Amino acid sequence: MTKKLYIKTYGCQMNVYDSERMADVLAPLGYGLSDRPDDADLVILNTCHIREKAAEKVYSDLGRLKAPQQEKSETGGRMIIAVAGCVAQAEGDEIMARAPQVDMVFGPQTYHRLPEMISKAKRAAGEKILDTDFPAEDKFDHLPEERVRKGEVTSFLTIQEGCDKFCTFCVVPYTRGAEFSRPATTVLQEARRLVADGVREVTLLGQNVNAYHGEGADGREWGLGRLCRELAEIDGLERIRYTTSHPRDVDDALIAAHGEVEKLMPYLHLPVQSGSDRILDAMNRKHTADEYRRIVDRLRAARPDLALTSDFIVGYPGESDQDFADTLKLVTDIGYAGAFSFKYSERPGTPAASMREQVDETVKSERLIALQQLLDSQQEAFNASMVGKTLPVLLEKPGRHEDQLVGRSPFLQPVHLNIPVSRHAAMIGTVIDCEITGLSGHSLFAAPPGDAGPLSENSASHRPNSGQERISA
Ligand code: SAH
Ligand code: SF4
Ligand code: F3S
Repeated sequence: MTKKLYIKTYGCQMNVYDSERMADVLAPLGYGLSDRPDDADLVILNTCHIREKAAEKVYSDLGRLKAPQQEKSETGGRMIIAVAGCVAQAEGDEIMARAPQVDMVFGPQTYHRLPEMISKAKRAAGEKILDTDFPAEDKFDHLPEERVRKGEVTSFLTIQEGCDKFCTFCVVPYTRGAEFSRPATTVLQEARRLVADGVREVTLLGQNVNAYHGEGADGREWGLGRLCRELAEIDGLERIRYTTSHPRDVDDALIAAHGEVEKLMPYLHLPVQSGSDRILDAMNRKHTADEYRRIVDRLRAARPDLALTSDFIVGYPGESDQDFADTLKLVTDIGYAGAFSFKYSERPGTPAASMREQVDETVKSERLIALQQLLDSQQEAFNASMVGKTLPVLLEKPGRHEDQLVGRSPFLQPVHLNIPVSRHAAMIGTVIDCEITGLSGHSLFAAPPGDAGPLSENSASHRPNSGQERISA
């Protein structure tokens, strides 16, 4: 009988990828994914430690699991509860102490050992398992090759993990360990397998994905630009994206790839955190605001329609009104298609947490509102500028309404189209050119291909030599 597995994922895309791989490891043991924790045989909380709120959520979710866990044991069953991910790595002992109902705690580098951990937990109810090692072996070498096919058109693919940058506010170098790049041959192999399974778009993942320096087929180190070029050779792969990149690691080869590799989408998440040189220096970002502007100029020279997004932190220790004004100025200068912004959150063990000049909460909140207003208005203007344009849309899945499909523009915007259900199966996974007719919130609406005129090879060509799979209406 299939055992029920429930995984809740917090935090970044890397955790989303890891959760999928944990499900892959557990499938041969008879665990099938369930979308509810009630009655589950195994619950895994794959946690995030990046900000205090994210970390605290884990404890409230654990509290909520007490009742279903109790119920399960009253009916003679057992619900094993595991805490994985970055909180597990950072606070393993504390979780064990604070939440006695937890059976297993393990860090991001140990997922390949899940089968052993589970059989141990099963053998001895009451015995706690804690595994937060950074093992010498590469966990990727020990994860199963086959992935559970879900019929999805897009997929994440982790190519790099860990971080050596040590920004003073950030826990990632401690929770994920030192930087490590997977060999390019393995990455290409995994990408080919995904494409054979119907995937048309891969998003390459890494905490610092453009610090990628994996061993290539020629025995030399390949950077991200080279890797993108090689991936673009895979027939059937339509789109390549990557996240998250660091300004310091944007090199000439990557900029050139943005100009020349058609499948590399014109959308880049390039976090800057602050527009003040003083704060950037205190954060140990190792670049100035002007250096960031110049990198953006060069990227846009290579690919003029490149849309940029970023992350920002407001209220970093010592941030003055002038520093914050510099951030607003940078945002105005660059013009973003979207961004995440956060109030600085003190993280235990990081250098910034022990700085004396912590910024008042109310000041942080005011700055966050002002910054978000500016970023929202830029995002709205960017989305509005799409109306009337014809964009290639990768159709991903049925929409909320019958006779509706949802896809993504090159700029990652969701695009809704009215298409009869009878045609969905044939169209999902294809790229079609659609005229954008309107927007609602962050979503775009497009005329169904029939309304936009016949889609021939010629009319569908957005950029030359796109090599994208087309279908005629
Ligand atoms: N590797 C990526 C970011 C990973 S964390 C990079 O270098 O850009 C994702 C985002 O969380 C960061 O970009 C930052 O904006 C935010 N963040 C990280 N630590 C934080 C903290 N202590 N307080 C508030 N936001 C934080
Ligand atoms: Fe954190 Fe900085 Fe590394 Fe990004 S580059 S993961 S912000 S330490
Ligand atoms: Fe969070 Fe860990 Fe990702 S701290 S943002 S889940 S690397």
